[in-house]
Parts: sequence; structure tokens; C-alpha cells
Amino acid sequence: MCGIVGYIGARQAQDVLVSGLGKLEYRGYDSAGVAIQQGGSGGGSIEVRKKAGKLANLAGELAAHPLSGTLGIGHTRWATHGLPNDTNAHPHATEDGKIVIIHNGIIENYLTLKAGLQSRGHVFRSETDSEVLAHLIEEKYNQTGSNLYEAVRLALGEVRGAYGIVVTHADHREIVAARTVSPLVLGVGEGELFLASDVPALLAYTRQVVFLHDGDMVVLGDDGFRVTDLAGNSLQRHIEQIDWDAEAAEKGGYDTYMLKEIYEQPVALTNTLIGRLHDDSGEVNLDINLDPGSFKRISIIACGTAYYAGLVGEYLIEQLARIPVEVDVASEYRYREPLVSEATLAIVISQSGETIDTLEALREAKKFGAKTLGVINAKGSSMTRELDDTLYIHAGPEIGVASTKAYTSMVSAMLMLALWLARARGTLDETRARELLHAARELPRLVEEALAPERVEHIKKVAEKYAHSRDYLFLGRGVNAPTALEGALKLKEISYIHAEGYAAGEMKHGPIALIDADLPVVVIATESRLLEKTISNVQEVRARAGKVIAVLSDGDTENAQHADDVIYVPRAHEMVSPVVNAVAMQLLAYFTAAALGKDVDKPRNLAKSVTVE
Ligand code: AGP
Repeated sequence: MCGIVGYIGARQAQDVLVSGLGKLEYRGYDSAGVAIQQGGSGGGSIEVRKKAGKLANLAGELAAHPLSGTLGIGHTRWATHGLPNDTNAHPHATEDGKIVIIHNGIIENYLTLKAGLQSRGHVFRSETDSEVLAHLIEEKYNQTGSNLYEAVRLALGEVRGAYGIVVTHADHREIVAARTVSPLVLGVGEGELFLASDVPALLAYTRQVVFLHDGDMVVLGDDGFRVTDLAGNSLQRHIEQIDWDAEAAEKGGYDTYMLKEIYEQPVALTNTLIGRLHDDSGEVNLDINLDPGSFKRISIIACGTAYYAGLVGEYLIEQLARIPVEVDVASEYRYREPLVSEATLAIVISQSGETIDTLEALREAKKFGAKTLGVINAKGSSMTRELDDTLYIHAGPEIGVASTKAYTSMVSAMLMLALWLARARGTLDETRARELLHAARELPRLVEEALAPERVEHIKKVAEKYAHSRDYLFLGRGVNAPTALEGALKLKEISYIHAEGYAAGEMKHGPIALIDADLPVVVIATESRLLEKTISNVQEVRARAGKVIAVLSDGDTENAQHADDVIYVPRAHEMVSPVVNAVAMQLLAYFTAAALGKDVDKPRNLAKSVTVE
């Protein structure tokens, strides 16, 4: 999830681009770059400047050696393919420097396209998937009699994946852009036009914006803009007036980063799954070098929410790949002298890639010869530099301290890992694999549905009803036992209400003593072969007058009668249901904390990345 901007008008583009990128740096801060057309009216050359690290590095460089010009494009990077460095920073240009592109998203088939282009003599400078676009457009440009719009349109016809792309050419005073999955907004000013991944980058200049739709292309020129679809047909897009203040804008119009990140989950999950599921063969391609047959047991190590994703992973890997798995909180693992050898695969899970307990536990496992794999969000983070291999979840930057989209992307990554191992070790046949791949591919849509306004409004009401409870209990079974733990953690973290998560069957061995008429008990009872067992636990709670908030699958009216309140979630395959159910947990916690007036983005006593023991 990168930040992209573009400008054509009378102002100095450098200033507009740098200030716009400054407003988008929450989307990625691994490197930044700009490309500015020299001279007016397609002056024949484009100057590119790019620097690894925070935007300040590039801004310093430009302050010392400014670039003049009134047409330009700019990018701040969240690395997905290729390490954060100057070469992999955007913009990317063709060898002759004539065509320059910036890209936000993931090109699924970039390796195939790159091989073809190299065989036709193209020389690549970076490790990125994005650079492929520059070379592909160049080929089409030469075939279309130097028509930049047509070249971009034809090139995108060969591309599979997610993109917000902005392109310019040294000989043309125009900018061509397009989007599929990744967001792109057009800003309309007096005799000037702006492009950006998000509204915050535009607000200082205009409040007139056009939200481009999936599959839209747009051409910006001094005489205005035109929107078409990818087939070249003209489209009408109306200009909307934005009335958000700057801070609200950085949150995309949401009150908080946490809520924004909850709503970003459909796109984040798309990016986690993209290019990895091959329904036709029932195979999963994880772009890691690990040999699936090179270990006998797995240790999953993590902290907090990441640890709960590990517990779901344990369930899925043991069920599907039949490999023994143990899951440890990192702060214990590093001192319990675990039984580790070369036959162990140590999997560390982390959003930040910087959590010190997990990093040290990783070093401990390596000390005993374990193979190491990371399931990580932050590219270039400390853990990724010490791991043998990393499976990136591509959830994009997560600003809210309470982890949401990173959790659901981690769980989806663990599902893909379980499927990959199972297929490679022959414990899962093609039919079952296809069924589960299909269920996984459904996740972005199911989560979109779980975020439907009427569902969110209902959860808000339930949250407000119980917001003044002193305690909460969360129960779940099987693959959703960890969902109960995650639900309790989310509530604790941001509302400061004491909450416990338990495997539902374990309740009668102690926690049942907590139950009385003042205790809300959230029971995750979605479609599952353990549903009946879970409902009998609901009965045990009812028998002690506990207030049951049942999370049920759509249409399950029969079990609704056993609950005081019901949260319906979209019906999902049991094996992927922890992702869908987690959204309901996040919203319940969020609206409880909001009802209590808590600062959900910066909860007390917590830090986004815990780098001390
Ligand atoms: C989750 O909401 C918390 N922020 C915390 O438990 C977090 O999951 C834990 O600190 C691990 O962080 P990591 O994923 O960055 O390693």
C-alpha cells in the first residue's frame, strides 16, 4: 500500500508533490521519489529523484537541488517486491528515460511479463514488479504511433493484479492514470489537476474530487481531463465536494485509524491472497524458497494478537498438513530451552517485524539449527533480515495500536501456508484443496459483507448495551477458540474492560464461576461441526443467568433463541470463519471503547511495536 500523487498546472510541481506525499506517508515510508517534466509542453526530458527511507530524505535532496517544472508525479513506498533502497524506489523509467511510471499495488503476473520483455531485449534495473509496467508501456507506445494513452491501455490489458498507476512521457504534456483495486482520486482545481491515492494529499489545493472506480482510466492535460474504461469507452464521473478537515482526511474520513483499518480489510485480504491461489490446480504458490519436506515439526512463535493468529495456524496446519505444531508466546519460548533441531521449522508471526521478544525467540531457534520462516507485514524490518524466508502478508501500514487488518491477513496467510504444506506433503487431495482455495478466495467479499452498514449499526447497539459491564467472557471452539482470545484482547486493549477468552469446553472447569446476570458472554457459534457442542455451552451460561451474545452464521434462527443478543455474520467455510468472525470482534471492541470515550488509536500503556523486554 503505497502513496501516489500527480500534478499538472501552473504551480511548481515539486512543492505540490512533496506536500502531497507528506500527507500520504502513513501509507508507506520505505522510500520516496518524484519525476518532473523539464521545460513546458512535453519538454523532451523528465528528471527523476528518489531516496530510500522517509520522505524527509527526498525532501532534503530536493531542497538542496530543486527541480523546476509544472508537471510531475510522486510516490511514497510500502515495499512488497524488492527491498527498500534507492533502486527499488519509484518512479521507474524506461532505459531512455522517456516513459516514467509510479505504481501502488501488486502485479500478479510480473514474472511472466518480465521474462518476455527481457527476451525482447529490455533491461531491468530494479527487483520490483512495478518496473515491468514501464517497459510494457514502452513496447505498446512504439506500436501505437506514440500514443501514450493507448499504450497504457493496451499494456494494462496484459496485466493481472492490483494497481493504481500514473504514467507520463517526456514528449507529452499529459498524465495517464488507471486503477483496479488500489484507490485513486482526481482533484479538480482552477486550471490545474491533481491525482492521489487518497484525499489528504489534495485538500490543501482543492475540495473538488472525482473518486475513480475500479477499471477507470483518466487522462490529465492542460485543457482538462477525460475518463474512460479499459476498453477505451468514455465514462462520466461526477465531481464531489469534500468537507473533511485535514486530520480526518488522513483517516480517509473515518474517526480513527483503527476504524479505517477495519474497513481496509477487504483490500488488505485481496493483497494477501493475490497471485497465490491457483484454483485451477488446487495449488498455492507462496513465493518462498522453503523446502516443505525439510522438517518434521513446527514451532510457531509470536506475541499478542500475532500469537492468536499462530493458534489458528496450528489448528489449520495440523488438520490439513498433519505436521505436529506447537505455539509459544515468544517471551516464554526464549527462556524455556525449547526442544529445537534442524528438523524444526520455526515460524515467527509479526505485524511490525520489530517486537523484541519475537526477534530474540527467533535468534534462540536459529541457535539450535531450526529453519526459520516469518509471516510478517513490515518489509525490511529487523526480523526479515534474520529469517531464512519471509511470507509477507501485504496488509499495508497499520497505524492503530490495536491490530485489526494485520490479524485477518496473518490468519489468511496461515491458511495458505497450511494448504501449501498439505498439497506438497500429499495430505490434501485436489478436490478438498479446491474447496478450501475457493473458500479463501471468498474472504474479501465475505468481510466486505460483514462490514455492511446495517450489520455494523447492529453491533454498535449491542456494544453500547453492554459498554458499562465490569467484565466480559468470550468463548469459542475449535478453529474459533483463538477468535475468542482475540475478541477478549481487542476489548481489553481499547476499552480497558477486564475480559477473558476461553475455549468454550474449558469454561465449566473454572470460569463458569464468574457467570452471573451482569456478565456478558460472547459465544462464537458460527457454522461448524462443533456447533452443537458450543450451543450446549451456551445453555450452561444461560443456566447461570449469564447474558449471551451469540455470534451466529446468517440464517441460523434456530440457535438465536438461546441468546440475549445475536450478531449475525456472513456464512463462511469453517476453516476460514476465524477471519470473518474476527471482524465482529473488532467492531464490538471498537464501539464499546468509543461509547466509553476511549482513545482507540493510542490506548493507554500500549505501543504499536514493543521493542523492549
Ligand atoms: C495487538 O492489537 C497488539 N498491538 C499487540 O498484542 C501486538 O499484537 C503484539 O505486540 C505483537 O506485535 P507484532 O505483531 O508487531 O509483533
